[in-house]
Parts: sequence; structure tokens; C-alpha cells
Amino acid sequence: MIETTGEIDRLRARVREWKREGLRVGFVPTMGNLHAGHFSLVRLARAHADRVVASVFVNPTQFGPNEDLERYPRTPERDAEGLDAAGCDLLWMPSVETMYPYGAGQEVRIRVPGVTDVLEGAHRPGHFDGVATVVARLFNQVQPDVAAFGRKDYQQLAVIRYLVRDLAFPVELLAGETVREADGLAMSSRNQYLDEGERALAPRLHQVLKSMREAMRAGTAPADVEARARAALGEDGFDVDYAVVRRPDLTEVGATVGPGTYVALVAARLGRTRLIDNLEFELG
Ligand code: PAJ
Repeated sequence: MIETTGEIDRLRARVREWKREGLRVGFVPTMGNLHAGHFSLVRLARAHADRVVASVFVNPTQFGPNEDLERYPRTPERDAEGLDAAGCDLLWMPSVETMYPYGAGQEVRIRVPGVTDVLEGAHRPGHFDGVATVVARLFNQVQPDVAAFGRKDYQQLAVIRYLVRDLAFPVELLAGETVREADGLAMSSRNQYLDEGERALAPRLHQVLKSMREAMRAGTAPADVEARARAALGEDGFDVDYAVVRRPDLTEVGATVGPGTYVALVAARLGRTRLIDNLEFELG
């Protein structure tokens, strides 16, 4: 069975040992309740490293006051079994006290500017500060050579790229493709909050992203693409936070659209559950 520890000294000793042997260390940070999307990141890290560490830590500093910190699903035994099967070598499960020795709320905080002001950042104030704050700590604790993040959280990936470059972390970043259910719904720990009716509607998000891509390919003006997507989701019963087309750095697309890479991003609530998804595409 996979080795699990919450002791920083144990983690450090293990990683030092590997590095002494000249092995490359990969890392996959998570908040647990793991699914096939997370395990695909473990396999991706494994393909670029000799040993893989995964972390499970439900990070209080990235949840807003009215978000789901308390009810966020915690399934440590099942996570450990799944990580073992996916080829992970060590599970890092720090306590809140280990992560935040002065207490959550008294921590040194990291704020990434610019990219955190829009979309998820605008709808979840402080969220990305919490993410950057915990990922910097996790990198210092684990000291990985390479770390894998999912494209599912497109803006988070942009935040982490900024963090790594700006603070000169010696970590190579890998981006994993979004793993989906058979009906197109992006896998997420939050999907299990959906009741039966909501679950049946949820794949609409992916369908609408694909129709945004097709409309862009057909030459529809971005503002119209966005308005139609928002209206379609609204009619389906989603409470839409945003449905937009952006450049990969999340800046706005202007009225004239040239060749290049674009990304459609949506965030919408079904009942109490907030879902996000995105689709990157090329225009020729
Ligand atoms: P969590 O939501 O557990 O996600 C952990 C990693 O899995 C992230 O990099 C996320 O993008 C990726 N992931 C989630 N669903 C995926 C899917 N369907 N396909 C592929 N990858 C997927 O993201 C976080 O945790 C936290 O913010 C964290 C980075 C751990 C900091 O606390």
C-alpha cells in the first residue's frame, strides 16, 4: 500500500533519498475525493518523473465564507487506494496546522496580479490568492522537479504559471487534458452535489462550449457567441456567472478575430452547485 504521511520530516527524508539517487520527483496537488481526472495527472507526472508524490489537502484559504469548505467531500481511504493503483509513490496529507503553523488567517499570503482579477477571480474574491498561497507552500514542502495541473481549471493553471515564473520555483509544469464522463460532463468532486435532474442537465455545459467553438469557426462575432451561450444556458435552468471567449491569457477577444488559439469558458450554477468548464480551440 502507498506510504501516507502528514509529517513534514518524513516527507522531506523520502524526497531527499530519491534525489540522492538521482531520481526525478513529480508532484500532483489535490484536495482529495479523487476521480479519473486526478489519476490521469498522476500518470502524466509519472511519465515525466521517476517518483510521484500526490497531496490531499482541503485548503481553507481558497474557500470563500459562503462556499463549501465544510461539506467538501473527504474520502482519504479511497483516495489512497486510487493513488496506489495509479502508480503514486507517496501521499502527502498535511494537517491545517502543518500547512498554516500560525493558523489559517495568519498566514503569509501570495497574491498573483492581473489574471486573478477576471472570471473566477472576479466571482470568487480571494480564491486564487488562497490557491497561490497553498501551492507555494506545497512546492516548498515537496520540492518537486515537475508538477501536473489540469486544464479543467484553466485560469488556475495560468495563475500557477505566473507564480512559478515570478517566484522562480525550479518546477516544470505539466498541463493535463480534462477527463470527462461519457456524456461530456467534466469530472469534478462537486458533481456529486447534483441531484438527478441537475446531473441530467450538467452535460449541457460541454455542449454549449462546443457550440461556442463552432459559432466562432462560422465567423459569428464573439459578443454574439457569448450572448447566445448565456441565453441557452439560462433557458436550460443554469444560473450563469459567465460564458465568454478569451485568448489563452484570458484577455478579451475584440471584435475582429484573427487566426490563433482561443478558449471558451463557462461558470454556472445548477441549484447550489457551481460548475466550471472550458474548451480551447484553434481558428485558422
Ligand atoms: P482539485 O480540485 O482537487 O484538483 C486537483 C487537480 O486536478 C487540479 O490540477 C485540477 O485542475 C485537476 N482536475 C480536476 N478535475 C479534472 C478533470 N476532470 N480532468 C483533468 N484534471 C482535473 O485544483 C485544486 O484541487 C486545488 O485548487 C489545488 C491546486 C490542489 C490547490 O489547493
